[in-house]
Amino acid sequence: MPRKLIKNAKIVSAQGIEPGDILIEREKILQIGKNLQDKEARVFDAGGKYVFPGFIDAHTHMGVPIRGTRSADDFSSGSLAALYGGVTTIIDFTVQEKGQSLADSIVQRKKEADGRSSVDYALHCNVTDLDEKRLKEIPAIVKQGIVSFKVFTAYREAGMQLDDRQILDLLWEVKQAGGTVMFHAENGDIISFLSDAFVRQGDTDAIFHAHSRPVLAEVEAVSRMVTLNQFIQCPLYFVHLTAAESVQIAAMAKQGGQNVYLETCPQYLLFDQSVYEREDGYRYIAAPPFRSKKDSDYLWQALQKGEIDVVGTDHCPFTLEQKEMGGRQFHLTPNGLPGVETLFALLYSEGVRKKRLSMERLVSLIAEEPARLFGLFPQKGILMEGADADLVIFNPDAEETISAAKLHSATDWTPYEGFESKGKIESVMLRGQWLLRDGILQDDNLRKGRFVPALL
Ligand code: URP
Ligand code: ZN
Ligand code: ZN
Repeated sequence: MPRKLIKNAKIVSAQGIEPGDILIEREKILQIGKNLQDKEARVFDAGGKYVFPGFIDAHTHMGVPIRGTRSADDFSSGSLAALYGGVTTIIDFTVQEKGQSLADSIVQRKKEADGRSSVDYALHCNVTDLDEKRLKEIPAIVKQGIVSFKVFTAYREAGMQLDDRQILDLLWEVKQAGGTVMFHAENGDIISFLSDAFVRQGDTDAIFHAHSRPVLAEVEAVSRMVTLNQFIQCPLYFVHLTAAESVQIAAMAKQGGQNVYLETCPQYLLFDQSVYEREDGYRYIAAPPFRSKKDSDYLWQALQKGEIDVVGTDHCPFTLEQKEMGGRQFHLTPNGLPGVETLFALLYSEGVRKKRLSMERLVSLIAEEPARLFGLFPQKGILMEGADADLVIFNPDAEETISAAKLHSATDWTPYEGFESKGKIESVMLRGQWLLRDGILQDDNLRKGRFVPALL
């Protein structure tokens, strides 16, 4: 395979933007520098456009079972959506069935991804059924390259919620093994109490989704998890934080010396609770719900000042038919939203172009930091010698309107319909192979995504 030389690039990293060339040999970056020459290499002129490291979406759910259905994207369609959005690595979650070993749940998830995914993938290990036997599996799982273990403090009705004693045991084992515990932090008992009360009264419109999952449920769970962790000091990662108060509590634990990392998602930056009052509000049901405009504003500031470390999408799309299957009642609607394809576009257009986010922070939030936190750095998340040649060529001068008709997820709608997207992702490369070249999909290179083991 001839080497590839990308000339005339504006190379973006979490440290800044530098003009330069990138020489690629097979799957890796061989050299980065100015005025590189290689007579044998095929030359691609980036024309002074931005070249980013391939983005990492640290939070996706492909084909995950929720409320008797499955999220609409499997690894095939979901990874196609990812690559069009410049995401060359997704980190998805295993699904542990009742009574299933963690090891078997990993084998099962890899079977679903291998041969289907067109982008590379890593895995977080969901722990929903925990006993002594499962705890003993943890060191071997970390050695296999899965270093993050996800806990739900909600969803008891779906058999997914762990109690505090189980969480303490898990924190202890994961800490010994050198991993991280991730939390979906909402107090499930507050939610089921409120939600049962609303349903009994016949209050089942979408807005009651938000009322049944108040900020307080998130605040309580975040506070409790950092309190439990005082005894143990395991690295923690809070997924999809939505509110100023919970971010501040997690950030305080970080200042107090705990290794605590925070994630939010584009939907919490761009929508507020009033969406649920709309006629189509039921479509936007996701857990946790959207909050106030004040909370969104706070989240933007927290991104820029580094209080929040990662933006993941929680990509978990359902078709309109699936969203309707509960008769638009909040407690019967599958929760989740599409997002992987619009991750960069939204952060760039709504963040960088509106001066709420620097380009450097953007790259940190969706490339470098997720790679560092989940053991993929420096193979992923940065353009440097020896790294995987995963990159995105972006033309900032183009402009288009986001529309479901132009997106590639298996779902038929997007929450971001009509949003202005500044710039255009023109080319995407995964490990030295073009997936997208000047907007044209490279069919021969699809479905070759690999599992990337995390290294501690
Ligand atoms: O509503 C959501 N977020 N669905 C996906 C599962 C989860 O809780 O992250
Ligand atoms: Zn969640
Ligand atoms: Zn999720």
